[in-house]
Amino acid sequence: MDNDVRKTIALSPRQCADVELLRVGGYRPLEGFMCESEYRSVLHNMHLPDGEPWPMPITLAMGSDGGEQNIAEGDQVDLLDGAGRRVGTIHVQQRFGYDKEAEATAVFRTTDEAHPGVAALYAQPDELIGGPVIFDDVASVGDDLRHLSPADLQKSFADRGWRTVVGFQTRNPIHRAHEYIQKTALEIVDGLLIHPLVGVTKEDDVPADVRWECYEVLMNGYFPSNRVILSALPAAMRYAGPREAVFHALVRRNYGCTHFIVGRDHAGVGDYYGSYDAQEIFKEFDRGELGIEPLFFEHAFWCTSCSGMGTAKTCPHDAADHVFLSGTRLRALLSEGRKAPPEFTRPEVAAVLAAAYGTA
Ligand code: ADX
Repeated sequence: MDNDVRKTIALSPRQCADVELLRVGGYRPLEGFMCESEYRSVLHNMHLPDGEPWPMPITLAMGSDGGEQNIAEGDQVDLLDGAGRRVGTIHVQQRFGYDKEAEATAVFRTTDEAHPGVAALYAQPDELIGGPVIFDDVASVGDDLRHLSPADLQKSFADRGWRTVVGFQTRNPIHRAHEYIQKTALEIVDGLLIHPLVGVTKEDDVPADVRWECYEVLMNGYFPSNRVILSALPAAMRYAGPREAVFHALVRRNYGCTHFIVGRDHAGVGDYYGSYDAQEIFKEFDRGELGIEPLFFEHAFWCTSCSGMGTAKTCPHDAADHVFLSGTRLRALLSEGRKAPPEFTRPEVAAVLAAAYGTA
């Protein structure tokens, strides 16, 4: 290749997120974007060809500019972020076509284009390139100060003497049900990592900056600082429900967690997945092979008769006594200028949301 004219690919924000996760080791054992044999194996078996568990395709769909430059196997192609900075270089091992419907069916369990993950997949270019990504002398892409790398976090856990750490994934402001399952889990481990995903989410999810303010409210007022760490995960949301739950667990393993919370409809969207499908899928893996222990929680709610949080496991009262809001209902309330009720979310969090949505 002519070194003076480097071939480049302009990455989308989603692709940038994948590159950042590859760089820090969040996708270990992956060292780059998948080649065809890895892609097929993951799609059909949820394992890499060498037998390591891995449920989600991590692929690089090539845009039209990549096509024009005639990127070929053996090329070294610079990967550029939105500001045109080189964030990595892929050593192209393979360029291959793929079947988007087959991927949608395997990963999302639907081909419905109303599903945000399916829509994103169908909007991708028609060819993938695979190969390791090299990070020599790249621009500093890890400029999100809220993101502690796996190495940083593992050191923080060790410094605190935590031998067991439970990771919590979220793409929402922390509401009471989240806090309840987090604290229940924390009762049996040494530390809690609140690890909100801050990469691309769907349009109507609460923006990461607003969520971050909510997380800080809880960190400052409701969690013991010597037991809880808040750090951002710069990944994009895929809304793949069950498969994404396993993926989320593996990524948290890579950040040093020993346990991972999987509650109701984890990483779900609409009615595409059953409430506990994201827990059931863990049965498809041998005990211990994931390297992280999932902790499953049933649907949690505030019960007016108990005057506290509970689940069907712990509360004997009727649904009429249970206060629970879906994200959709919460957004509807906010857009009507109303605040989330205190049984659903702490008033300080409701105030942040109300201010952000102009309803304070
Ligand atoms: S997710 O897409 O990141 O899974 P969300 O931020 O709502 O969405 O959920 C974060 C975690 O909390 C997930 O493990 C989810 O299953 C769990 N969860 C959310 N709400 C409840 C609830 N009411 N009861 C039990 N678990 C819940």
